[in-house]
Amino acid sequence: MSLMAALAVAGASKAIAQDVHGKPIRAEQLANDNWLMHVSPQETAKYLLLPVEDKAPEAHLKLIVDNQLCRNIDVRMALHKIDYYVPVLLDEFRGHNLVVQAHMNIDRSNRGGVGSEICWGNIRLADTFDTANRERFRPLYHHTPVYGWMNDPNGMYYKDGTWHLFYQYNPYGSMWGNMNWRHSTSRDLLTWEDQGVAIAPDAHGAIFSGSCVVDEKNTAGFGTGAVIALYTSAGDVQSQSLAYSTDGGRTFTPYVGNPILTADVPDFRDPNMFWNEDINAWNLILAVGREMRIYSSPNLKDWKEESRFGLGYGNHDGVWECPDLFPLSGKTAEHTKWVLVCNINPGGPFGGSATQYFVGDFDGHKFTCDSAPQVTKWMDWGKDHYATVSFSDAPDGRRTVLAWMSNWQYANDVPTMQFRSANSIARDLSLFQDGGEWYVSVKPAPEMLAARGKKVKNPSEACEILVDLKGSATITLSNTKGEKVQMTYDEDARTFSMDRTQSGNVGFSEAFPCTTVAPTHGRVKQLRIFVDQSSIEAFDAEGRFAMTNLVFPSEPYNSVRVKGGKATIYQINN
Ligand code: FRU
Repeated sequence: MSLMAALAVAGASKAIAQDVHGKPIRAEQLANDNWLMHVSPQETAKYLLLPVEDKAPEAHLKLIVDNQLCRNIDVRMALHKIDYYVPVLLDEFRGHNLVVQAHMNIDRSNRGGVGSEICWGNIRLADTFDTANRERFRPLYHHTPVYGWMNDPNGMYYKDGTWHLFYQYNPYGSMWGNMNWRHSTSRDLLTWEDQGVAIAPDAHGAIFSGSCVVDEKNTAGFGTGAVIALYTSAGDVQSQSLAYSTDGGRTFTPYVGNPILTADVPDFRDPNMFWNEDINAWNLILAVGREMRIYSSPNLKDWKEESRFGLGYGNHDGVWECPDLFPLSGKTAEHTKWVLVCNINPGGPFGGSATQYFVGDFDGHKFTCDSAPQVTKWMDWGKDHYATVSFSDAPDGRRTVLAWMSNWQYANDVPTMQFRSANSIARDLSLFQDGGEWYVSVKPAPEMLAARGKKVKNPSEACEILVDLKGSATITLSNTKGEKVQMTYDEDARTFSMDRTQSGNVGFSEAFPCTTVAPTHGRVKQLRIFVDQSSIEAFDAEGRFAMTNLVFPSEPYNSVRVKGGKATIYQINN
């Protein structure tokens, strides 16, 4: 299309946006698939609200401040219908000339161009952004982002009574993209307070997964007690970067010497570091392709490769991601073993992503696995338990973990809009033995006992169902629409299974309807089953299996039938 024709279309089209009083703001259509708008330095509105359609292709937006490129963001600008709005915070641009230039991913031969798409005319300048929850499936006692997309938990640490959780976050949509670290805090692992974005993409790339430690000895030189974050900068290549916080994790400053660790491999990510008393230095474990690399450092900036682990061990049907490495004890202290956590995608026991682990020894230099290479161990036997890592410095010697409660097979398609994804409940790990092998035991964190409210007769959208078993049993959760989840404990086969094929909405992905099965490693005496709006987490009360599955019933399950056991139901307070 000629420039004149393009301008003619622009002239004929509606204004692209409205200000806080509903007054139109004009913008220019630059080509069929391109537009720009000016936000004046005098503008006082707090937000630029962009209309999003989840299924639209990503448009590429440049935020240009006083002629300098300040930020690139990808937004699924609405073409046919508006699913929801996302806010661009304008505070930081006040007093400056902000130009938003967008390259839309639309067919250039469409003569109407962007002026005929629904986003044109529907961008808003506003003083408020509505985060009121109106999602039927938003969990009531699991951590979720206020709005937008979440995946892996990142940089978790505990300090002075507060649990800090950072997470992979897209502020500009409820599907994966624009990775930032957003931050939440909790004092009870049950109620979380949003602390906003902590680390935003920079010229090295998006902010992928990583870890935090509190540098009590000031080894890195950013101050005693500074919070140090290591994360993957994902640009054209993946490399590791450092950022530090001197205000207790609220704000971070990227280190000027970034990136601090590079390699000539494409999958090189998710650094997880910890202080190792045995070598009086820091260790770092990093996922590199289909194995782990282990490093050491005196100062968190200079890392020396010590060894590699994993080729030929465990499951290799996917890329290894999000590692963790920590010591665990069984019932007696003489049995301290090291556990190497390796999240893998795909390759999970029921398809897609899952958490495998290895038990062995670690001397600060090399991890040696106890089991034969062909042995694979899973931390959770459901379909929706991924990217599991532990909190640094958890109190009382605890090893407390959170998982991302979804699966890469369908995480972007689950039937929510205003937000996507939740974390599992917090779990505490220890060890148990079966048939000469060490396994990780997984129990709900003790905070979940404190969360128990009054005993009730029927399940609700937020409850814990305790089932005392005498032998094999079936447990059926159902609602008045005939939707149900059937759980079966088979004492002879030593298995526990959960069938969600008729659990409600299962049609958004072929990979969603399924039955998951766990080995129980012996007799189960009691089950603890945690139900929230869109999840079921079942545990052997003694910790020998865990199973986490999402469900999307059209109304909450309000009945439980147990054959072969007795159920006690507690509401969950939060
Ligand atoms: C795991 C993962 C990580 C990566 C992050 C990107 O779910 O793929 O390996 O750092 O997500 O969001």
